[in-house]
Amino acid sequence: MVRLSELDIEKSYAFSFDDFILLPGYIDIEPNEISLATKFSLNINLNIPFVSAPMDTVTEAEMAITLARNGGIGVIHRNNSIEEQIEQVKKVKRAESFIIRDVITISPDMTVGEAARVMQEHGISGLPVVDENNKLLGIITGRDVRFASPEIKVREAMTTDVITAHEKITPEESIELMKKYRIEKLPVVDKDGKLVGLITYKDVSLRGKFKYATRDENGRLRVAAAVSPFDLERAIKLSKYADALVIDVAHFHNQNVISATYKIIKNVDVDVIIGNLGTKEGVLDSVSKLEKVAGLRVGIGSGSVCTTTQITKAGSPTLYAVALAREALEELGADIPIIADGGIRNAGDIVLAIAFGASSAMMGYIFAGCKESPSPMMMIGGRYYKLHRGMGSASARQKRMAVDRYAKLSKEIAEGTEAWLPYKGEATTVIQELVAGLKAAMGYAGVKNIKELQTKAKVRRVSISAFAKAPDLLFPGESKY
Ligand code: XMP
Repeated sequence: MVRLSELDIEKSYAFSFDDFILLPGYIDIEPNEISLATKFSLNINLNIPFVSAPMDTVTEAEMAITLARNGGIGVIHRNNSIEEQIEQVKKVKRAESFIIRDVITISPDMTVGEAARVMQEHGISGLPVVDENNKLLGIITGRDVRFASPEIKVREAMTTDVITAHEKITPEESIELMKKYRIEKLPVVDKDGKLVGLITYKDVSLRGKFKYATRDENGRLRVAAAVSPFDLERAIKLSKYADALVIDVAHFHNQNVISATYKIIKNVDVDVIIGNLGTKEGVLDSVSKLEKVAGLRVGIGSGSVCTTTQITKAGSPTLYAVALAREALEELGADIPIIADGGIRNAGDIVLAIAFGASSAMMGYIFAGCKESPSPMMMIGGRYYKLHRGMGSASARQKRMAVDRYAKLSKEIAEGTEAWLPYKGEATTVIQELVAGLKAAMGYAGVKNIKELQTKAKVRRVSISAFAKAPDLLFPGESKY
């Protein structure tokens, strides 16, 4: 563990990523054998330490699905209505479940036109047809809808001869059954013929494809959701679907915030991550008052689109915040995972955050420019750019007031800005590059896994001139080779 007391650093020096360098260490394995398995929160394991930030230009379902398939996790933003946020969470949970429990069904008395609309709205290609007691009567698929008149009733267009499965079926058996009957959807029924779930070929076949995905006990992708500490209703409703809640407030160390979070923790039974915190006292105080904290999100004012520090001269740089949080947890004897949040630009920053005690890194800037982010794209001068905006920016605040009937702005000033970032393509490619960078860095540091990085890595303060390039290398010309 990099301990502040062992580094010759003044206690008052609030440092950041560029102030340190990782010292090389002895290793007896190759970088590709290194494990990046870690924890997001007390009960959620990850295979890579990457978390996408709850920002409305970063994380909705598509980004969260990509993060989870690659072994990380996404936190769905809260700049929307409760219903919209729940829908995003559900999309992730439905993306690859083995047995979908929360099945979208239709009544036989609806019209084919209505069935088509429901399918389009939810992006699905088939609906089980059930009566008022949820008894399975048939199934209507995209094909049935395409070739029937929109005015006729579902009962006239549906297939009634449905192949079904029982709850104990295994993924392998379900694949066999679907192949045998050449079907893509397998309704699961109980002994009375009532619909209790749905298996889709797409979901079952994807399970083998993403071996390192972050999944829950039912094989569904995991996802977290952001909530305001003052929105108990949202927290309770979301907790029925999301795997974890992230208390999303710029300054957690506030009596009202702590008391409101206490109520949330008492009312939900999923992991609750608190933040943002930036001081040792903040962590000591919050963790002791709240009893059941499952994770800490730390760093204040370092985010790429934050203006907090410029405007208020208040904040705690992410790396410094990690070190202080770790000191506090050691003092408390609590092993709570720390998420380093804000200002992360590359794999090296993540390695340093972990070396100082973090378990994962939350990123907005890194993912906002990717295809999967829910942000608008624009062409400027022949190149594509995507928008990234702070959740405290004027436009994000305006949207919050418009979409969330309970939103209250406690501050009268915006603390974020907007930026157009170069389009980076698919998030999976960005994730793979970060993974490769992280493993290379850990190889240099002589550590085989995240635990060793947290406990064995050595860092040093670095002088500004240490890695300065020769002036003629600053603007290298085109290679002739
Ligand atoms: P990066 O640098 O990865 O940081 O984009 C993401 C984190 O920035 C924080 N955030 C803000 N901080 N004003 C702030 O002071 C804002 O408007 C704002 N929006 C996001 C947040 O912690 C996020 O995870």
